[in-house]
Amino acid sequence: MAEGVAVDKTLWFIADYSTDPDVPRRGNKRYYICYEQQYVNENPFHAMDENKPAWIAHTTIPHTLMGAMLNLAWMYAAGPTPKLKVCDPFVGSGTTWFEASKFGDIDSDVSDRMDCADQLAKDNLEFFALSAAGIRQLARQCEYVRDCTQGVAVVLPEDLSDEFEEVMAGLHEFDGAKGILLHPKHIDWLRQKSLLAKILFYTGLKAAVRHGAAITRQQERLPEAFVNELDILLADIAEVRRIREGQSADTSEAGRAIVPMRDPGLIRYPSFYSEGCSISPCLLRRLAERYCARGPERIVEQRDALVLEEEKYDVLIADPPYGINADQDATELSWLYRKMIPCCLKALRDGGQLILALPEASRTGRPCAFFTRGEMIQHQIIVEARKLKMDVVAVGHAGSRPAIARPPYYWESERALRRSILHFRFRRNS
Ligand SMILES: C[S@@+](CC[C@H](N)C(=O)[O-])C[C@H]1O[C@@H](n2cnc3c(N)ncnc32)[C@H](O)[C@@H]1O
Repeated sequence: MAEGVAVDKTLWFIADYSTDPDVPRRGNKRYYICYEQQYVNENPFHAMDENKPAWIAHTTIPHTLMGAMLNLAWMYAAGPTPKLKVCDPFVGSGTTWFEASKFGDIDSDVSDRMDCADQLAKDNLEFFALSAAGIRQLARQCEYVRDCTQGVAVVLPEDLSDEFEEVMAGLHEFDGAKGILLHPKHIDWLRQKSLLAKILFYTGLKAAVRHGAAITRQQERLPEAFVNELDILLADIAEVRRIREGQSADTSEAGRAIVPMRDPGLIRYPSFYSEGCSISPCLLRRLAERYCARGPERIVEQRDALVLEEEKYDVLIADPPYGINADQDATELSWLYRKMIPCCLKALRDGGQLILALPEASRTGRPCAFFTRGEMIQHQIIVEARKLKMDVVAVGHAGSRPAIARPPYYWESERALRRSILHFRFRRNS
């Protein structure tokens, strides 16, 4: 990036024509509009992106990408339904549920085959619902642990030392693993523990999984990896704290529209600036009161993705497993891909949308199986829709949209993957 570039600002140049006041057609006068737009994104989920505190594998979809996919769904919603019914049957750590919670008019139904997915989502919610003071205290405790650890042995505060034993004992089971399914005993353990203990446990998991190969080759030791991961987490926590400190305590009922007035006398964002882009702390607190109080209500249902009710949803949105970052048997995965398309199509109402993030190219050295690739899935969608007597409407191709605004869209990640985003709408012609 060149020095002196303001990354939070965009310059727009728009060429337009007048309109004819009598006939609905283009007039003769030309207009040129040039303006500067300041980019404001005060979404705490985006500050964490793929690194939410409760984490068990590299499979988390970036929050920014899921936010963009939901924006697409919302933009192409078929008419005025009271609430858009959205389903993600592969929700993992809850990314889709968090992003959907920003919208007052989206009702999300999320599931995963992992039992622990619900615990991950609840632990992440507990973190995001913290006040600025709560985040500061958590950061101080994590810093203390980091400073005591010194890369030799993980040292926790005295009152947590018993938990430390349990955390580290748990980690031996996961050392170097690629795909993790938390055992029921770990889920029970997590349910009992403080947020700090849970966060240290998940950080230990990150260290074991992300640094597994280096630890096995004895190029790195677990405590060093732990400190490294804690540092990354602390940097993200500092960003969430900055956002939280800037948000006024009382925000709108809808739970969106974060409009901070940071400097006395200076209204920094004089309008509903970040509407739909962020989420208010009071809505997060309400959600935490509902789901994190150890009651039975789940955020994530435990369900196989092939068990979906028919004609129930307006939008099916997901990033299914790719088999790159988690060890999933290739035969089982190909079977899942063959079966999931008809299940998803049957689950859609008339006018429903299917939005899928799929691997386009891998940068990790592990190849993407051909049956997970966008071009294969596009053909499959068209064939299955025909069998089900559904018309496929390729959204974005209607009208005179420039090529850049047409699906498939691409999402570049420096480290792991280039993804393609497929987006279809369907009409039932029974
Ligand atoms: C690529 S990950 C999705 C991650 C998620 N978007 C997130 O941000 O955490 C794929 C998910 O599909 C789940 N999965 C794999 N096979 C499944 C099946 N047959 N039914 C339901 N979920 C399944 C895995 O447990 C994993 O959480």
